[in-house]
Amino acid sequence: MTKNVLILPGDGIGPEITAEAVKVLNKLVETDGLDIAMEEDLVGGAAYDVHGVPLADETMQKAHDADAVLLGAVGGYKWESLDISVRPEKGLLRLRKEMELFANLRPAMLFPQLASASTLKPEIVAGLDILIVRELTGGIYFGQPRGIRTLENGERQGYNTYVYSESEVKRIAHVAFQAAMKRGKKLTSVDKANVLEVTEMWREIIDEIAPEYPEVEVNHMYVDNAAMQLVLNPKQFDVMVTGNMFGDILSDEASMLTGSIGMLASASLDKNNKGMYEPSHGSAPDIAGQNKANPLATIMSAAMMLRYTLGREDLAVKIEDAISKVLDQGLRTGDIMEDGMTQVTCSEMGDAVVAAL
Ligand code: NAD
Ligand code: IPM
Ligand code: MN
Repeated sequence: MTKNVLILPGDGIGPEITAEAVKVLNKLVETDGLDIAMEEDLVGGAAYDVHGVPLADETMQKAHDADAVLLGAVGGYKWESLDISVRPEKGLLRLRKEMELFANLRPAMLFPQLASASTLKPEIVAGLDILIVRELTGGIYFGQPRGIRTLENGERQGYNTYVYSESEVKRIAHVAFQAAMKRGKKLTSVDKANVLEVTEMWREIIDEIAPEYPEVEVNHMYVDNAAMQLVLNPKQFDVMVTGNMFGDILSDEASMLTGSIGMLASASLDKNNKGMYEPSHGSAPDIAGQNKANPLATIMSAAMMLRYTLGREDLAVKIEDAISKVLDQGLRTGDIMEDGMTQVTCSEMGDAVVAAL
């Protein structure tokens, strides 16, 4: 049966990188019997400009109805001074929350061809393969109360609430343990249990669940140390599980181990593996509209969509192999460019992946 994919290009480089992923999917429709129908709609600043909100209710409904969503990125200078309730990022957060996409998988995997593209020494990153499991619909991103208020003395006070309920921690913990079982059977839970009660409880819950996965070796690490260990010795990690904000920060850090933030794909899944797929980076307003962005994180996110939601592991592997071939050919976008390689544009990179399929 035909599966429906909602494409939400968004802002900045979003439309450029999404177009390349769509090219790749269209090629698989032509040549490999991929049975999908794609429909496009607005999100972020692009939606605000038309509807006055960063995600129209009709678009939200389309996302619910679709089998999967592929999103580019949202945000940009133009919308930075809007009220926080209608900023582009709110469109993305609404999609995540209403679709209950609590499990964000961000695989930081180094293609061997890019070992020297990383800012770290090649021997530190060679063979790197980390999966960051980030809780995506709770924590300080969504906790209440939140806001900016004026105190009696007239000064303003900004406040957010860092909160997790037991069930929220348990469900993300199970995702992480199960992922570890399929990989290196090592799980590092990242918290700030020495200071924050919410993560003290997080740590307790991880330990309570651990006996259900006796084969998985579990350790706990404070987030500040984890940030340091990621650049000291990143290969000590297999699966990392953490809350929403720590996961946001650590995944950007981990992306640089793979050469560029333009290489970090992501899947955001609900309890039935229905999902939204998007690169981990943003709308890169500094290079938007210049056909310079690296589309590979988005193309790899489309591969994750084939793997996790559309049941086509074969085609996911096919895309990943094609990317590897293109890197073998020495083709590089600016962010991963090195001496002796051939610099290509965003669309040339997409064309090269299509040709390599
Ligand atoms: P960013 O990830 O957009 O950019 C950070 C740096 O990385 C920039 O120098 C950019 O040029 C570079 N970069 C990012 N993606 C790249 C790619 N594919 N190829 C080459 N270079 C790339 O982060 P930022 O500058 O902090 O945020 C810009 C806007 O994006 C903000 O509005 C932010 O809220 C939004 N944002 C959106 C998402 C999302 O939609 N998921 C994620 C992060 C940030
Ligand atoms: C990401 C982004 C988002 C986040 C923003 C744009 C809301 O940084 O997907 O990593 O913080 O989750
Ligand atoms: Mn982020």
